[in-house]
Amino acid sequence: MNIKSPKPEHIVIIMDGNGRWAEKNDLPRTKGHKSGVKTLRNLIERAVQLELTMITVYAFSRENWQRPRKEVDLLIDLFITSLQSEVHDLHKNNIKLNFIGELTKFSDTLRKSMKESELLTYNNSGLTLNVALNYSGRWDIHQALLSIINEVQSKKITIDEINEKLINSKLSLAENHEPDLFIRTGGEKRISNYLLWQLAYTEMYFTDILWPDFDIDQFDLALDWFAKRQRRFGKTSAQIENDQNA
Ligand code: IPE
Ligand code: IPE
Ligand code: MG
Repeated sequence: MNIKSPKPEHIVIIMDGNGRWAEKNDLPRTKGHKSGVKTLRNLIERAVQLELTMITVYAFSRENWQRPRKEVDLLIDLFITSLQSEVHDLHKNNIKLNFIGELTKFSDTLRKSMKESELLTYNNSGLTLNVALNYSGRWDIHQALLSIINEVQSKKITIDEINEKLINSKLSLAENHEPDLFIRTGGEKRISNYLLWQLAYTEMYFTDILWPDFDIDQFDLALDWFAKRQRRFGKTSAQIENDQNA
């Protein structure tokens, strides 16, 4: 089955609801997270099939460190094992992997794994998969600010040169297409400190489906919903229709 056009060039996803899915099925939260990895795998397969260009997933927020130690340890173990078991398949499928967030907080082992998989897949030209780990939208803006201040102090740039384009260039995902479609599963209607600056004109899709239940049909529904949006960027409907007919 194909999906309607236009396809989003960049999809950003908050994969939420693993814990509640596990609870619902009388399983430990661990199983919910494991099941969530499978969902992501299926979704990536579908994205490759549809020749989508970029997906950015929120795998672990800065705030998630506040969870019970056991759950945090398990999540980190799951990243390490999933990365090791999946990276070759991702590479075979021409997928480029990229990690965003404050990665210095992770162990050498995980950082090494992340670097190696980024290097391995660096020249791939298919889907780009960005994984946000220890990410926070406010952290992102803060680190961009520090970088700009540094350039001003070292006289690399002047204050007059600080504009939105420059700020954008210092943020995570800078060189990429702005997010077109945001998907959050699990029923909450909030951004949870995800890509705050980058989401300025993104179409927001919320669904009650818990992440482990978010299958290909659900994904296709979100893509079809996106195809029907009229993106106005401040203009009127009539202007957009005129532009399309021109
Ligand atoms: C999302 O599912 C996964 C991570 C935050 C790592 P949750 O673990 O937040 O699941 P719920 O919200 O408790 O159901
Ligand atoms: C957001 O989910 C982070 C990830 C999915 C990684 P949470 O479940 O942690 O979000 P809040 O804290 O309930 O908003
Ligand atoms: Mg949650």
